[in-house]
Amino acid sequence: MPSLPAPLRVLIFHASLRKESTNGRLADLATQVVSRSGATVDRATMADFDCPSYDGDREQTGDMPAGARVLCSRLKATDAFIIVSPEYNASVPGVLKNAIDWTSRFRPQPFNGKQALLMSASPSMAGGNRGLWSLRVPLEHLGARVYPDMFSLAQSDRAFGDNGRLLNDVLQKRFDDTVRCFLDLVEAAKHYPGLKKQWVEFLGEQPSRSTNRVETSETEAA
Ligand SMILES: Cc1cc2nc3c(=O)[nH]c(=O)nc-3n(C[C@H](O)[C@H](O)[C@H](O)COP(=O)(O)O)c2cc1C
Repeated sequence: MPSLPAPLRVLIFHASLRKESTNGRLADLATQVVSRSGATVDRATMADFDCPSYDGDREQTGDMPAGARVLCSRLKATDAFIIVSPEYNASVPGVLKNAIDWTSRFRPQPFNGKQALLMSASPSMAGGNRGLWSLRVPLEHLGARVYPDMFSLAQSDRAFGDNGRLLNDVLQKRFDDTVRCFLDLVEAAKHYPGLKKQWVEFLGEQPSRSTNRVETSETEAA
Protein backbone atom coordinates (compact mmCIF):
# COMPACT_ATOMS: atom_id res chain seq x y z
CA MET A 1 0.00 0.00 0.00
CA PRO A 2 1.38 3.47 -0.83
CA SER A 3 2.35 5.41 2.29
CA LEU A 4 0.33 8.48 3.23
CA PRO A 5 1.97 11.79 2.34
CA ALA A 6 3.55 13.59 5.28
CA PRO A 7 1.33 16.36 6.66
CA LEU A 8 2.13 19.92 5.61
CA ARG A 9 4.22 21.89 8.07
CA VAL A 10 3.29 25.53 8.63
CA LEU A 11 5.19 28.05 10.74
CA ILE A 12 2.88 30.75 12.14
CA PHE A 13 4.02 33.81 14.05
CA HIS A 14 2.84 37.33 14.82
CA ALA A 15 5.04 40.39 14.74
CA SER A 16 3.94 42.19 17.90
CA LEU A 17 5.66 41.64 21.22
CA ARG A 18 2.85 42.79 23.52
CA LYS A 19 0.86 40.24 25.50
CA GLU A 20 -2.60 41.41 24.42
CA SER A 21 -1.63 41.59 20.76
CA THR A 22 -4.59 41.49 18.38
CA ASN A 23 -2.23 40.15 15.69
CA GLY A 24 -1.44 37.35 18.12
CA ARG A 25 -5.15 36.58 18.43
CA LEU A 26 -5.46 36.46 14.65
CA ALA A 27 -2.41 34.18 14.48
CA ASP A 28 -4.11 31.89 17.02
CA LEU A 29 -7.18 31.77 14.77
CA ALA A 30 -4.98 30.85 11.79
CA THR A 31 -3.40 28.13 13.94
CA GLN A 32 -6.84 26.61 14.56
CA VAL A 33 -7.74 26.58 10.85
CA VAL A 34 -4.38 25.10 9.81
CA SER A 35 -4.49 22.44 12.55
CA ARG A 36 -8.04 21.45 11.61
CA SER A 37 -6.81 20.86 8.03
CA GLY A 38 -4.46 18.16 9.33
CA ALA A 39 -1.28 20.17 8.88
CA THR A 40 1.33 20.45 11.60
CA VAL A 41 1.65 23.94 13.06
CA ASP A 42 4.81 25.42 14.50
CA ARG A 43 3.40 28.41 16.43
CA ALA A 44 6.09 30.97 17.23
CA THR A 45 6.29 34.51 18.55
CA MET A 46 8.60 37.38 17.69
CA ALA A 47 10.30 36.84 21.06
CA ASP A 48 11.61 33.52 19.69
CA PHE A 49 13.38 35.46 16.92
CA ASP A 50 14.67 38.36 18.99
CA CYS A 51 17.77 39.94 17.41
CA PRO A 52 19.87 43.02 18.16
CA SER A 53 19.99 45.62 15.38
CA TYR A 54 21.68 44.24 12.28
CA ASP A 55 25.43 44.83 12.40
CA GLY A 56 27.61 43.85 9.43
CA ASP A 57 30.74 43.75 11.60
CA ARG A 58 29.11 41.20 13.89
CA GLU A 59 28.01 39.16 10.88
CA GLN A 60 31.63 39.16 9.65
CA THR A 61 32.71 37.43 12.85
CA GLY A 62 30.16 34.66 12.20
CA ASP A 63 28.45 35.38 15.51
CA MET A 64 24.87 35.33 14.23
CA PRO A 65 22.18 36.17 16.83
CA ALA A 66 20.40 33.20 18.39
CA GLY A 67 17.01 34.57 17.28
CA ALA A 68 18.09 34.60 13.62
CA ARG A 69 19.44 31.06 13.93
CA VAL A 70 16.12 29.94 15.37
CA LEU A 71 14.09 31.61 12.61
CA CYS A 72 16.41 30.11 10.00
CA SER A 73 16.07 26.57 11.32
CA ARG A 74 12.30 26.85 11.79
CA LEU A 75 11.96 28.13 8.21
CA LYS A 76 14.08 25.27 6.93
CA ALA A 77 11.81 22.79 8.70
CA THR A 78 8.58 24.19 7.25
CA ASP A 79 6.72 24.02 3.94
CA ALA A 80 5.05 27.39 4.44
CA PHE A 81 4.83 30.29 6.84
CA ILE A 82 2.11 32.71 7.89
CA ILE A 83 3.08 36.10 9.31
CA VAL A 84 0.44 38.15 11.11
CA SER A 85 1.89 41.61 11.44
CA PRO A 86 0.78 45.00 12.71
CA GLU A 87 1.38 48.05 10.53
CA TYR A 88 3.71 50.65 12.00
CA ASN A 89 3.73 54.02 10.29
CA ALA A 90 2.27 52.48 7.13
CA SER A 91 5.06 49.91 6.96
CA VAL A 92 6.71 46.83 8.50
CA PRO A 93 7.49 46.84 12.27
CA GLY A 94 11.24 47.28 12.75
CA VAL A 95 11.51 44.18 14.93
CA LEU A 96 10.23 42.01 12.06
CA LYS A 97 12.29 43.64 9.32
CA ASN A 98 15.42 43.38 11.47
CA ALA A 99 14.84 39.65 12.04
CA ILE A 100 14.27 39.14 8.29
CA ASP A 101 17.48 41.05 7.50
CA TRP A 102 19.63 38.94 9.86
CA THR A 103 18.03 35.68 8.73
CA SER A 104 18.47 36.53 5.06
CA ARG A 105 22.25 36.31 5.57
CA PHE A 106 22.31 32.54 6.05
CA ARG A 107 23.10 30.31 3.07
CA PRO A 108 21.15 28.49 1.78
CA GLN A 109 18.90 31.50 2.17
CA PRO A 110 15.94 30.10 4.14
CA PHE A 111 13.06 32.19 2.74
CA ASN A 112 13.77 31.00 -0.79
CA GLY A 113 10.97 28.86 -2.23
CA LYS A 114 8.79 28.91 0.90
CA GLN A 115 5.08 29.64 0.50
CA ALA A 116 3.94 32.62 2.55
CA LEU A 117 0.62 34.10 3.63
CA LEU A 118 0.46 37.60 5.08
CA MET A 119 -2.15 38.88 7.50
CA SER A 120 -2.58 41.92 9.68
CA ALA A 121 -4.80 43.37 12.39
CA SER A 122 -5.24 47.01 13.31
CA PRO A 123 -7.80 49.18 15.08
CA SER A 124 -7.88 51.30 11.91
CA MET A 125 -10.37 50.88 9.07
CA ALA A 126 -7.64 49.63 6.70
CA GLY A 127 -6.67 46.81 9.06
CA GLY A 128 -2.92 47.42 8.64
CA ASN A 129 -3.02 46.38 5.00
CA ARG A 130 -0.43 48.95 3.85
CA GLY A 131 2.15 47.32 6.09
CA LEU A 132 1.60 44.01 4.31
CA TRP A 133 2.42 45.56 0.95
CA SER A 134 5.72 46.70 2.44
CA LEU A 135 6.34 43.27 3.96
CA ARG A 136 5.74 41.62 0.58
CA VAL A 137 8.75 43.41 -0.93
CA PRO A 138 11.63 41.91 1.12
CA LEU A 139 9.95 38.49 1.21
CA GLU A 140 9.46 38.36 -2.56
CA HIS A 141 12.99 39.66 -3.03
CA LEU A 142 14.16 36.69 -0.95
CA GLY A 143 12.31 34.21 -3.16
CA ALA A 144 9.34 33.49 -0.89
CA ARG A 145 6.13 32.72 -2.83
CA VAL A 146 3.85 35.28 -1.25
CA TYR A 147 0.19 34.32 -1.70
CA PRO A 148 -1.73 36.94 -3.70
CA ASP A 149 -4.61 37.25 -1.21
CA MET A 150 -3.98 38.86 2.15
CA PHE A 151 -6.28 39.21 5.14
CA SER A 152 -6.37 42.52 7.02
CA LEU A 153 -8.64 42.74 10.05
CA ALA A 154 -10.04 46.26 10.50
CA GLN A 155 -11.19 47.53 13.93
CA SER A 156 -9.31 44.64 15.50
CA ASP A 157 -9.84 46.05 19.00
CA ARG A 158 -13.54 45.14 18.76
CA ALA A 159 -13.48 42.27 16.23
CA PHE A 160 -13.03 39.25 18.52
CA GLY A 161 -15.58 37.41 20.63
CA ASP A 162 -14.77 35.86 24.00
CA ASN A 163 -14.21 32.51 22.28
CA GLY A 164 -11.40 34.02 20.21
CA ARG A 165 -13.34 33.88 16.95
CA LEU A 166 -14.35 36.87 14.88
CA LEU A 167 -17.70 38.33 15.89
CA ASN A 168 -18.69 38.81 12.28
CA ASP A 169 -19.53 35.40 10.80
CA VAL A 170 -19.06 36.51 7.19
CA LEU A 171 -15.60 37.80 8.04
CA GLN A 172 -14.77 34.60 9.92
CA LYS A 173 -15.75 32.53 6.88
CA ARG A 174 -13.67 34.76 4.61
CA PHE A 175 -10.73 34.26 6.97
CA ASP A 176 -11.17 30.46 7.04
CA ASP A 177 -11.48 30.34 3.24
CA THR A 178 -8.34 32.43 2.74
CA VAL A 179 -6.27 30.13 4.96
CA ARG A 180 -7.71 26.96 3.40
CA CYS A 181 -7.13 28.15 -0.18
CA PHE A 182 -3.55 29.02 0.78
CA LEU A 183 -3.05 25.51 2.17
CA ASP A 184 -4.36 24.03 -1.11
CA LEU A 185 -1.64 25.92 -2.94
CA VAL A 186 1.02 24.83 -0.44
CA GLU A 187 -0.07 21.22 -0.93
CA ALA A 188 0.10 21.59 -4.72
CA ALA A 189 3.51 23.26 -4.61
CA LYS A 190 4.85 20.49 -2.37
CA HIS A 191 3.88 17.82 -4.89
CA TYR A 192 4.91 19.78 -7.99
CA PRO A 193 8.36 21.05 -6.97
CA GLY A 194 8.89 22.14 -10.58
CA LEU A 195 7.02 25.27 -9.54
CA LYS A 196 10.17 26.22 -7.69
CA LYS A 197 12.46 28.61 -9.50
CA GLN A 198 15.95 29.89 -9.11
CA TRP A 199 16.52 32.60 -6.57
CA VAL A 200 18.82 35.26 -7.97
CA GLU A 201 19.77 37.92 -5.46
CA PHE A 202 20.31 40.68 -8.02
CA LEU A 203 18.27 39.87 -11.09
CA GLY A 204 19.89 42.17 -13.66
CA GLU A 205 23.49 41.54 -12.65
CA GLN A 206 25.81 40.21 -15.38
CA PRO A 207 26.10 36.45 -14.85
CA SER A 208 29.67 35.72 -13.79
CA ARG A 209 31.29 32.90 -11.91
CA SER A 210 32.89 35.21 -9.37
CA THR A 211 29.77 37.23 -8.45
CA ASN A 212 26.90 34.76 -8.99
CA ARG A 213 24.45 34.82 -6.12
CA VAL A 214 22.10 32.18 -7.48
CA GLU A 215 20.43 29.37 -5.59
CA THR A 216 18.34 26.56 -7.05
CA SER A 217 16.67 23.62 -5.38
CA GLU A 218 19.74 21.61 -6.39
CA THR A 219 22.25 24.00 -4.78
CA GLU A 220 20.04 24.05 -1.71
CA ALA A 221 20.14 20.30 -1.44
CA ALA A 222 23.91 20.21 -1.94
C1 LIG B 1 4.92 52.95 16.31
C2 LIG B 1 3.49 52.64 15.91
C3 LIG B 1 3.05 52.99 14.66
C4 LIG B 1 1.76 52.65 14.27
N1 LIG B 1 1.35 52.96 12.99
C5 LIG B 1 0.16 52.49 12.55
C6 LIG B 1 -0.21 52.62 11.19
O1 LIG B 1 0.51 53.17 10.38
N2 LIG B 1 -1.38 52.10 10.81
C7 LIG B 1 -2.22 51.44 11.67
O2 LIG B 1 -3.27 50.95 11.24
N3 LIG B 1 -1.91 51.32 12.97
C8 LIG B 1 -0.75 51.81 13.43
N4 LIG B 1 -0.39 51.65 14.74
C9 LIG B 1 -1.37 51.08 15.66
C10 LIG B 1 -1.28 49.56 15.67
O3 LIG B 1 -2.00 49.06 14.57
C11 LIG B 1 -1.93 49.05 16.95
O4 LIG B 1 -1.13 49.44 18.04
C12 LIG B 1 -2.13 47.56 16.91
O5 LIG B 1 -3.01 47.18 17.93
C13 LIG B 1 -0.81 46.83 17.08
O6 LIG B 1 -0.99 45.46 16.94
P1 LIG B 1 -1.10 44.47 18.21
O7 LIG B 1 -2.48 44.64 18.81
O8 LIG B 1 -0.94 43.14 17.59
O9 LIG B 1 -0.02 44.83 19.17
C14 LIG B 1 0.88 52.01 15.16
C15 LIG B 1 1.35 51.67 16.44
C16 LIG B 1 2.63 51.98 16.80
C17 LIG B 1 3.13 51.55 18.17
